[in-house]
Amino acid sequence: MSERPKVTVRSIREMKARKERIVSVTAYDYPTARLADEAGVDLILVGDSLGMVVLGYESTIPVTMPEMMHHVRAVVRAAPRALVVADLPFASFQTSPEDAVRNSARFVKRGAEAVKLEGGRRVLPQVEAILAADIPVLGHLGLTPQSVHAFGGYKVQGRTKSAAEALVEDALALERAGVFAIVLEGIPRGLGGEVSRALTIPTIGIGAGAECDGQVLVLHDLIGLSFGKPAKFVRRYAEVGETIRHAVAAFRDDVRSGRYPSAAETYESGDTAPPAAATQSGAKASEKTSCES
Ligand code: KIV
Repeated sequence: MSERPKVTVRSIREMKARKERIVSVTAYDYPTARLADEAGVDLILVGDSLGMVVLGYESTIPVTMPEMMHHVRAVVRAAPRALVVADLPFASFQTSPEDAVRNSARFVKRGAEAVKLEGGRRVLPQVEAILAADIPVLGHLGLTPQSVHAFGGYKVQGRTKSAAEALVEDALALERAGVFAIVLEGIPRGLGGEVSRALTIPTIGIGAGAECDGQVLVLHDLIGLSFGKPAKFVRRYAEVGETIRHAVAAFRDDVRSGRYPSAAETYESGDTAPPAAATQSGAKASEKTSCES
């Protein structure tokens, strides 16, 4: 896949004019980000969904900037081609435009190429301040999970005429401010299409119907490495969780029965021992930044 050019904010915007659908997944660590990049996705989102997907939290609310930054650095090391977007977690930007810029800059110093934040007109001062610092912004409207308490649960948004109109107004305001694309989450498919037609920038849908300009899924959902009942819009392309369960159970049985290790899996005196992780080629990947702050 490396012959394909590096994806930029500009090329994401141009995809809409060319009617090319944008493909995006979340990733939170080196191996999954590397596989997604090699598979040719356009945009990798280090989403705050990592709180639920890989840290075991009940919601995205507890996710902190240090947790996000740790994962952003791993993803950046793994993904030379895809556009890497870092998600501003709850309370990292709502508090003030200054906090929004400072925390966005912390992500960019770690190699992220853009940030995502949830909300429309209410967070325009934050969006404008981040853009004024030359940091590209991906908007996010609809069922924005950081507003779970305000919504009274994870409920499809934009179902009434007034809520749908407000969402369209939010999208237009974000576009005017200069965001390069907008994630639309958990809204009726008709509204997804309406917003996509109203904008010149692309929409990237998750549970927002087929008329969005692209689609994003949580990688762990699409590969079957998440727990619980998947949302209606999730399509599972693999059952990696089951594969892991079977592999570890087979190892358990082999150790307990003495079938592992075999003679071929044992060193003789005089053998040289490569490190256990010799098959990893992470060392080859260059970091996009070494700045700390
Ligand atoms: O945090 C996340 O993964 C997201 C996507 C679901 C859009 O915001």
